[in-house]
Amino acid sequence: MEMARIRNWWSHSKTVTLIWFISLVLFYSLFHMALQNSSQNYPSSNPGSRISNEEQRARLYDKMARDLDEHGAAFLKQGETSQSLSLSDIFSLKDGVVTPVHKAANPPVRANVLYLSPEYSVPISDAVKRIFSSHFDKAIWFQNSSLYHFSMFHASHHISPVPATEDEIEAEATAVRTVAEGICPVKIVLDRVVLTSTGVLLGCWQVISGTDPITIRAKLRAALPHAPEKQLYDPAILHTSFARLLGHPTASPMELHNTSDQLRFFHEIVDRLNNEIRGSKAVVSELWYVEEHDVLALALDGRMKVRKFPLGCSRT
Ligand SMILES: *[C@@H]1O[C@H](CO)[C@@H](O)[C@H](O)[C@H]1NC(C)=O
Ligand SMILES: *[C@@H]1O[C@H](CO)[C@@H](O)[C@H](O)[C@H]1NC(C)=O
Repeated sequence: MEMARIRNWWSHSKTVTLIWFISLVLFYSLFHMALQNSSQNYPSSNPGSRISNEEQRARLYDKMARDLDEHGAAFLKQGETSQSLSLSDIFSLKDGVVTPVHKAANPPVRANVLYLSPEYSVPISDAVKRIFSSHFDKAIWFQNSSLYHFSMFHASHHISPVPATEDEIEAEATAVRTVAEGICPVKIVLDRVVLTSTGVLLGCWQVISGTDPITIRAKLRAALPHAPEKQLYDPAILHTSFARLLGHPTASPMELHNTSDQLRFFHEIVDRLNNEIRGSKAVVSELWYVEEHDVLALALDGRMKVRKFPLGCSRT
């Protein structure tokens, strides 16, 4: 009788100990994971302080500038765009002439973009064309200089479509107009031009003054509560697409025998462009709400409906 009680107690306490032990292991591993997560959010080089928006952009641009070396010139073998659409889907090369393939976007993509006026975009576009046309004869698509833009926030995009009625679209546009009224014109400077491994030639910009893109995106998210949770771009980025390379260069000053020769050549022409236009300044003073009825309409001169809203605090 006494023995049985002791055995019973012993096995009970073994169970309790086991449960305690498992709980402790679980607690410590979760605690450890939490620690690791927080050290990822706050890099150790900046203990306790959040990095500035400018620093966040600079790091992002550094990473984008390394992309070509790290992943090679994927566009030479039909790459994908920054929006993960295959380039062969959006261009066709007919008799050596590049033409965009306009495919209906269903439902239409609803994009909010900052607009760069021709006063600033035309000189950039001229330099891009002068430097790149001679090397890429036909295997290149130049962004229309009347439609240079900075993608900010999507109310609906092709990865997470958010269908909307005409009334809902009107309501969204009104909400975006209100956001625009509260945003100050953004004075910016071209930090650098990068060529991505997918062949997109991008201008990466820094903010001199005005409302930061991070704030603009946060305001748009608050104004557009049905928008996809996952957006297409980093919240800090301020970029414009200048051109898309679609194939091999036709003429180059040197023979391009192997991959490292090719990369050296691409870096060289991008450097040449950087030498001309890096440091260009501009003032952005319009926010556009764009319904893209064709896939990538803004990039490919497709069908779209544009509502233009001036940025409100208009003292520049
Ligand atoms: C560029 O865009 C403007 C404005 O949408 C348009 O009028 C013009 O036809 C476009 N240019 C080309 C070459 O498609
Ligand atoms: C690529 O070719 C160049 C000659 O054009 C040569 O100097 C270089 O070593 C080659 N690189 C590789 C990685 O084969």
